[in-house]
Amino acid sequence: MTTRRSSASDRTDEASDLLRNVVLFRGMPPQMLEELGRRLRPDRYRAHSDIFHEGDEGSTLYIILSGAVKIYIPSLDGREVVLAVHRKYDLLGEMSLLDDDPRSASATTIEDTEVVKLSRHDFLSVLDLHPEAQRAIIDVLVARLRATNQSIQDAYLLDVPGRLARRLLAIANEHGEPTEDGVDIGLRVSQQELANMIGASRVAVNKQLQQWRKQRIVDVNRQRVTIVNRAALEREYSLSP
Ligand code: CMP
Repeated sequence: MTTRRSSASDRTDEASDLLRNVVLFRGMPPQMLEELGRRLRPDRYRAHSDIFHEGDEGSTLYIILSGAVKIYIPSLDGREVVLAVHRKYDLLGEMSLLDDDPRSASATTIEDTEVVKLSRHDFLSVLDLHPEAQRAIIDVLVARLRATNQSIQDAYLLDVPGRLARRLLAIANEHGEPTEDGVDIGLRVSQQELANMIGASRVAVNKQLQQWRKQRIVDVNRQRVTIVNRAALEREYSLSP
């Protein structure tokens, strides 16, 4: 028989989990974190739900506890530029809390997702009271700027196979899980979403994946992509014009 633990003990576990894993709370004294924990509001979203839209007023910071959230800019003709996919323990929505401008991009879940939310007031208090949090936010913004620079470089310098190869490897490096056949990239994304991540058409992505499938470089099964021959994918982007 399993013993139901007290909610106080659950809260302590949750607080120490956040303390260890969320960059914003790195090095925060446990008491301060527990105090803050009382202000975190849990919420959950089904897959393919909108969290907010580009241009909305931003008053909340989100910390992802499980699932995956796509950050994208919608175009007037219904297409999307996918800037990033954020996952467990990533922060979301910090930019408009810092500069008071509207949301810079839209956020939609691509899996069932659980978050905790912090108000602008509490987020800014954390930054005021805990200097390490300021440093942590700078680290987050710098890492995102580097990743964005890399995407711009890829868009200018690589062809579609090169961009797709690099993106699949990047996703696998972050989320990949070894399988009997190779490495499952660990993120369930449609071919349209992959296309939106690399600025290509769905047809071009589908054609390339089918070609690699025949060559036993990747395996594709519904939204599950497995890298079978990593070295061949690495060659694709190092040889890309
Ligand atoms: P905010 O502008 O409040 O709302 C959109 C959020 O998407 C933004 O805060 C960041 O959390 C996130 N975001 C915006 N641009 C990028 C990017 N280039 N890379 C990763 N995340 C981003």
